[in-house]
Amino acid sequence: MTSYKHSIIIAIDGPAGSGKSTTARLVAERLGFIYVDTGAMYRAVTLAWLRVGKPDIDVFLSNLPDISLSRDPQTHRQMTLLDGVDVTDQIRTSEVTKQVSYISSLKTVREKMVSLQRNIGSDHNVVMDGRDIGTAVFPKADLKVFMIADIQKRASRRLEEMKNKSKHHVPSLDELIQQMKERDTYDSSREIDPLKMADDAMLLDTSELTIEDQATIIIEKAKPIIIKHSHGA
Ligand code: DC
Repeated sequence: MTSYKHSIIIAIDGPAGSGKSTTARLVAERLGFIYVDTGAMYRAVTLAWLRVGKPDIDVFLSNLPDISLSRDPQTHRQMTLLDGVDVTDQIRTSEVTKQVSYISSLKTVREKMVSLQRNIGSDHNVVMDGRDIGTAVFPKADLKVFMIADIQKRASRRLEEMKNKSKHHVPSLDELIQQMKERDTYDSSREIDPLKMADDAMLLDTSELTIEDQATIIIEKAKPIIIKHSHGA
């Protein structure tokens, strides 16, 4: 495994809609760390598979597309590139969301994405969000947070987000709850690196918290770690 002792890793895992990405982005911004949304990487692989017409999976796996991350020069937000082309918006369609659990359960896909994620964390302080960051990608992360929230809350938050941002079809609340439950079940029961809380993670139930509350809790936990790190520990 890549050594990452010179950088600080904050791992934030949890199910869809638990508030991970917004919180992780804010924490990273305030700490001056790089924010990495690993779900976007699995979404980009899924988009590639859909674009080539869902071919036989072994054929697809034998020649996986090139996935990389970049930063928008103006907003500094993560940009997701598929074979060098920006697909940040295209990976958010419901078509991709429906298939991403399947594609991300495949060993070859996971091995490639995990290796990219470890590379990013090897020389940058990062806040990385996903499903298996604290259990599989960085089992020795400096701080691990596992975020959960009530399904109704998660779905209504996601719906608001979609209404505000999405140029694509927006499902109903009930449809979204159903889709989220299916995705949680698939992601938690897959064989390789399922969605699971690490034994040493802090559990954060965000049902009644604001993004600001969540970011503050994580930053307070991170502060002593950063101080210790700056003293060379
Ligand atoms: O965070 P998201 O909803 O964009 O993630 C999309 C899917 O990618 C999620 O349903 C499971 C998969 N995923 C994963 O398997 N491991 C990660 N570290 C991140 C996401």
